[in-house]
Amino acid sequence: MKLLVTGGAGFIGSHVAETALRLGYEVAVIDNLLTGRKENIPAQAVFYQADIRHKDQLEWIYKEFQPDMVSHQAAQTSVAVSVREPVLDAEINIIGSLNVLNACLSGNVKRLIFASTGGAIYGEVPPGESASVSWPAQPLSPYACSKLAIEGYLKCYHQQQELDFRILRYANVYGPRQDPHGEAGVVAIFLDRLLTQQEIYINAGRTVGDAGCIRDYIYVGDVVKANLAAMEDKINSPIINVGTGVETSTLELAHIIEQCLDIETRIEFKPPRPGDLVRSVLDASEYTAIMGATTDLSQGLKETAQWFREEKTGY
Ligand SMILES: NC(=O)c1ccc[n+]([C@@H]2O[C@H](COP(=O)([O-])OP(=O)(O)OC[C@H]3O[C@@H](n4cnc5c(N)ncnc54)[C@H](O)[C@@H]3O)[C@@H](O)[C@H]2O)c1
Repeated sequence: MKLLVTGGAGFIGSHVAETALRLGYEVAVIDNLLTGRKENIPAQAVFYQADIRHKDQLEWIYKEFQPDMVSHQAAQTSVAVSVREPVLDAEINIIGSLNVLNACLSGNVKRLIFASTGGAIYGEVPPGESASVSWPAQPLSPYACSKLAIEGYLKCYHQQQELDFRILRYANVYGPRQDPHGEAGVVAIFLDRLLTQQEIYINAGRTVGDAGCIRDYIYVGDVVKANLAAMEDKINSPIINVGTGVETSTLELAHIIEQCLDIETRIEFKPPRPGDLVRSVLDASEYTAIMGATTDLSQGLKETAQWFREEKTGY
């Protein structure tokens, strides 16, 4: 079985590529290294440095590699960037993704797995509730709009041209290899800052000094499991939430990370960031029914902290 991973030099895509190789898949990676790193790509994977906005490059790669499955992870991934540069976000996340879908159709790909967002697509999730896939989407950022647009195209391509797909709506993913220098990925940012004796910032949920936004944090290993399950017919719903259903505020997260590292730091409180939701928690009942319990946050954070310590020389 041949698997093409777009965005395979990135955080989640590189873990998908690595696990698929271990399971016997032949794997190729497409990435333009916008945020991804060559070192993340497993040595046994074929690497095509290409941009999904260029359909000619994609067509050539599909002809050359002839994938059976495509795991589409490549994206502009920052909500903040999408607010500042909605056209750039749409060029990569809508036009680029459409190029990926079209190449799948002409290349006879059996199934496309799409990395969507549960963390942004439902809008604000009221206290005490968790967002289920039956909820209407309420995108409040250009990033969420672009992900929702591709979900719509997938349904339409499926009806008209029988492209088979699974949509995975990820919660907030954390784990080894997450980039601490981007604008997303609070776990990686906190770990990096604590390990280099820097203060950390809590962006307010509503008012400066509160415990910050509430999120559903899922370990990357659990996200990889969902990707493999979607490829191997274990997930039959077209759309599934990939989350834990457990809510954690940014301040709680900071304290758990301090405990994991056994380091205390100075915490500063900042205003809310434009485009950030106050509360986002996913209904994870379907995920856990199929795949069992997700990794406990402290356990996942310990493994992530260990990787950051080993990876960064001098820590
Ligand atoms: N990390 C999360 O919490 C999270 C949550 C919800 C959804 N997602 C989605 O999961 C996927 C993977 O995210 P990630 O966290 O690993 O981010 P990442 O930035 O580490 O990975 C994205 C990869 O896509 C590549 N890329 C970007 N633009 C490209 C282009 N035009 N052509 C080719 N490659 C391009 C980047 O270089 C990078 O390697 C994305 O689709 C993201 O929207 C992530």
